[in-house]
Amino acid sequence: MDTKNTKGILLAGGAGSRLYPLSKVYSKQLVAVYDKPMIYYPMATLINAGIKEILIIADSNTIPFYQKLFENSTENNLGITIQYAVQEKPNGIAEAFIIGKDFIGKDNVALILGDNIFYGCDEIFRKEIERGYNTIFALYVKDPEQYGVVQFSAQNIANKIIEKPMNFVSNYAVPGFYIYDSSVVEVATKLKPSNRGELEITDINNHYLQQFNLDIILLNKGVTWLDSGTPDSLLAASNFIASIEQRHNIKVGCYEEAAYRMKFIARKQLLDYTNTLPNCAYKDYLLFVSNNMQDNLDF
Ligand code: G1P
Repeated sequence: MDTKNTKGILLAGGAGSRLYPLSKVYSKQLVAVYDKPMIYYPMATLINAGIKEILIIADSNTIPFYQKLFENSTENNLGITIQYAVQEKPNGIAEAFIIGKDFIGKDNVALILGDNIFYGCDEIFRKEIERGYNTIFALYVKDPEQYGVVQFSAQNIANKIIEKPMNFVSNYAVPGFYIYDSSVVEVATKLKPSNRGELEITDINNHYLQQFNLDIILLNKGVTWLDSGTPDSLLAASNFIASIEQRHNIKVGCYEEAAYRMKFIARKQLLDYTNTLPNCAYKDYLLFVSNNMQDNLDF
């Protein structure tokens, strides 16, 4: 796989039943994680990874909310494009590639799950996207049984991913950020639904793993991966973001800042965009970014 353009899919559907009643009226990715909607974080992760063309996949009731949320974010305003596609039922993560077939075309694709929050991973993700191999990541967690988990051979070589294993496999869980070439569309099309009735991303990963066509990058202790799909993990994510933001006077998941840092837009565009926002701490922060990061130098 050579270095190609990489498109981004943000999968923001799902029933969100573990967050009920928070998820009764609108999808969980609109619920607040501290000071901004959950979907801001994966959106910023995609942009910080260098991705300009994004497809949001969600159920048809929720898409208008996302369109409203990101109404001023595309084209000249932030230098990105956002398209929308419907996943009517939660048929599984891998269905995103079937729905996104035309969007992906012959390009590579990075998929991020709308309830996964990453901190400290931007550079690693950017590097892997530039490298352009089929790539997933793995992190040591205390509760691997809730995730796709990497099984290692006696020689310490990853030989299988097991989805929500009943018995202990390893502590290395696979987070919701995946990079593939366009062959993933065909792989997804050939999948059969699992026992829980879903097209599993884990089956795609096992397909490539068996072909020796999948890199698994271990993320070290310097990075943080949060899942915000339960009340406790949502509160923990909010507290984590709040403490970092307050301590360092930054905002995590500020996708407008990401577009500026990635040089998708110049300072003037960021200022024009910022001036359309109501007076609030978020606007003050974007003004701070534009005034202190001139020429895209770090502050
Ligand atoms: C999904 C994937 C799983 C992955 C997890 C990351 O789980 O199936 O392999 O580890 O996302 O958040 P689900 O959200 O379906 O429980």
